[in-house]
Amino acid sequence: MIEGRLRRNNEVPMLEVKNLHVTVDGKQILNGLDLTVNKGEVHAIMGPNGSGKSTLSYVMAGKPGYEATQGQILLEGEDLLTMEPDERAAKGLFLAFQYPLEIPGVATMTFLRTALNAQRKKRGQDELSTPAFLKMVRDAAAKLEIDPEMLRRGVNVGFSGGEKKRNEVLQMALLEPRLCVLDETDSGLDIDALKIVSDGVNRLRSPDRAMIVITHYQRLLEHIVPDVVHVLSRGRIVRSGGKDLALELEARGYAEYQQEEAALVS
Ligand SMILES: Nc1ncnc2c1ncn2[C@@H]1O[C@H](COP(=O)(O)OP(=O)(O)OP(=O)(O)O)[C@@H](O)[C@H]1O
Ligand SMILES: [Mg+2]
Repeated sequence: MIEGRLRRNNEVPMLEVKNLHVTVDGKQILNGLDLTVNKGEVHAIMGPNGSGKSTLSYVMAGKPGYEATQGQILLEGEDLLTMEPDERAAKGLFLAFQYPLEIPGVATMTFLRTALNAQRKKRGQDELSTPAFLKMVRDAAAKLEIDPEMLRRGVNVGFSGGEKKRNEVLQMALLEPRLCVLDETDSGLDIDALKIVSDGVNRLRSPDRAMIVITHYQRLLEHIVPDVVHVLSRGRIVRSGGKDLALELEARGYAEYQQEEAALVS
């Protein structure tokens, strides 16, 4: 396993996934996944459809039905699997899902405020005043070129694919998480939006934060340059390398990893 370049001596990693096995509806999806992400690093996870990338993000979030049967997920040394989903968020985990949910009847602004204040409460901080909150949202939305009018609409209701993804990055910017997992945040973005969203993600890069970017396309990684690239195949990380690994995958595809895995299994 490639060690990230930014590891400081004796520092607890931001994320350690050890020998993770996950089943969904009795079907084994992840089988022995290991992944270490240090503070300050950005890791990309690539891999064929159905290899388990979204499953990893769901099990981290605590989505019902995703059962970890073996292994651990440690966020700065603390076991995420024993925590409720809201506790995980309060600890600084943020996930931008591949298919963001629509919440009719709840204005985006209200949703953002509720999420932010719930998190502040869990962290022992006071609620933000209305003017302070509005300023914060407007500033963050402007940077992502989100029309303020959109924030009055129901969460993601009728948003285009690209607008949903921007909205996810807006939430992320407001919540200031420690570990961000972005699942195909680039899918459905037009060329300009890809740049806006990538810039938004890059602004959040910091020595105290780590990010996992799940993507199929090397193109995103030209904007969000990763420290480490992993290949996930059949529920395990089968190869890790530097950013050039993404270029190699783009050129050669995944056939060799699937064969290797097949050879291991047979
Ligand atoms: N409820 C379920 N029952 C059975 N199999 C499931 C269930 N949910 C997910 N799976 C299977 O788990 C596998 C992994 O799915 P996952 O969504 O994690 O893949 P992925 O790597 O994110 O793929 P993609 O690149 O297409 O997004 C798939 O084969 C999928 O069909
Ligand atoms: Mg997926």
